[in-house]
Amino acid sequence: MRGAKVVVGAQWGDEGKGKIVDHFARSADWVVRYQGGANAGHTLVVDGRKTVLHLIPSGALHPKARCAIAAGCVVDPEGLLAELDALEAAGAPLTPERLRVSERAHLVLSIHRHLDVAREAAAGAAAIGTTGRGIGPAYEDAVGRRGVRFAELVGPASALADRVERLVAERNLLLVGLGAAPVSAAAVLAELAAVRERLAPYVGPVGAVIAAAIEGDETVIFEGAQGVLLDCLHGTYPFVTSSSTGAGGVCTGTGIGPRLVGEVLGVTKAYATRVGAGPFPTELNGALEARLRAAGGEFGATTGRPRRCGWLDLPALRTAARLGGLTGLVVTKLDVLGGFDEVRMATGYRVNGQVVEDADVGTLADAEPIYEVFAGWGPEVGQVRHYLDLPASARHFLERLSAAVELPIELVSVGPERDAIIACPPR
Ligand code: IMP
Repeated sequence: MRGAKVVVGAQWGDEGKGKIVDHFARSADWVVRYQGGANAGHTLVVDGRKTVLHLIPSGALHPKARCAIAAGCVVDPEGLLAELDALEAAGAPLTPERLRVSERAHLVLSIHRHLDVAREAAAGAAAIGTTGRGIGPAYEDAVGRRGVRFAELVGPASALADRVERLVAERNLLLVGLGAAPVSAAAVLAELAAVRERLAPYVGPVGAVIAAAIEGDETVIFEGAQGVLLDCLHGTYPFVTSSSTGAGGVCTGTGIGPRLVGEVLGVTKAYATRVGAGPFPTELNGALEARLRAAGGEFGATTGRPRRCGWLDLPALRTAARLGGLTGLVVTKLDVLGGFDEVRMATGYRVNGQVVEDADVGTLADAEPIYEVFAGWGPEVGQVRHYLDLPASARHFLERLSAAVELPIELVSVGPERDAIIACPPR
């Protein structure tokens, strides 16, 4: 048994995981989402056509790959149907033979979205800057043992009504307390009635199926969402998402043991971005940030918000390597830095007058980055397909990065299209 391959974000999300998962999905039997929900936005560009997936795994565009949404995800049923419709309209339909949704996955209901938005509005300066997709409230209800799962959605109508009524009654107390209008259980039940029949054929067990697939030496890719530094417990709390974004989340989210996990690839941009509030030591501002944002198209795939942009941050990446259990790296968007006369990466921080190389993310708020400056490279890296054809300055940057984090770089992405990818020579 080889064990499964896990692809996680090694920063604060938006690292370009979708394209990398699509790359591996060419030869995959299964691609599995194990945490998060429609807060994610995974962009795939195939033959000039852009597909943005929020819930459906990025194996969807490979007809032989089957996709699974595991118990650890929170799923907005209307959003899922909209994605299925969009794939069908694009000529890439995902039938129930190719998509399975765990009966244990929790539903994101409209009341969760209302709670998310009302809470953020009430928080003022303490707002997290969530995606507003109801993710936090849905996970709260899951661990609060009052959530509604796909098992209830497709089960007896009276049991579903009981569950929804209890959840809505409890959560309306908070909604009203936050100054928002209460939601009626009847309205939530009507929303669920409208999606139930279409979604039922997709619902079934996931954990046991995926465990058997890995044990049977099938190729299974786990697709992380968000990034390791947004992990609910170990990230830049409280400016985090509400799930376990690292490789550990694969086990709890899917319901399999750690023995079944093989390698863990961490995806990092050649620079750094962050959406929403929270510490970001290498954040730029002014013209340089605007240039990087424009060059990288750094606007949220889910919310359209401009992303905060900065230089690559090695201490944060080292922390991510530990948290994520990384065995290798993938570097994306190297082409975006093409055209800068010089580029930088933070090799350490100065925290309270002391130089540190491996800071706990909790200390990031006080960190002053220490930069190493590199000669730039030109935009022609976007056309390069072989590692040794990269300009020496770009290779030097990558090799410094790899050595500093003590991880091999396996792939370098130099553009959004499928073929804009470079396999790195083995170390
Ligand atoms: P939530 O996951 O919507 O609750 O948002 C919590 C924090 O995580 C906010 O800062 C969001 O901007 C951030 N976040 C959530 N999902 C993503 C993502 O897929 N990419 C980048 N940031 C994300």
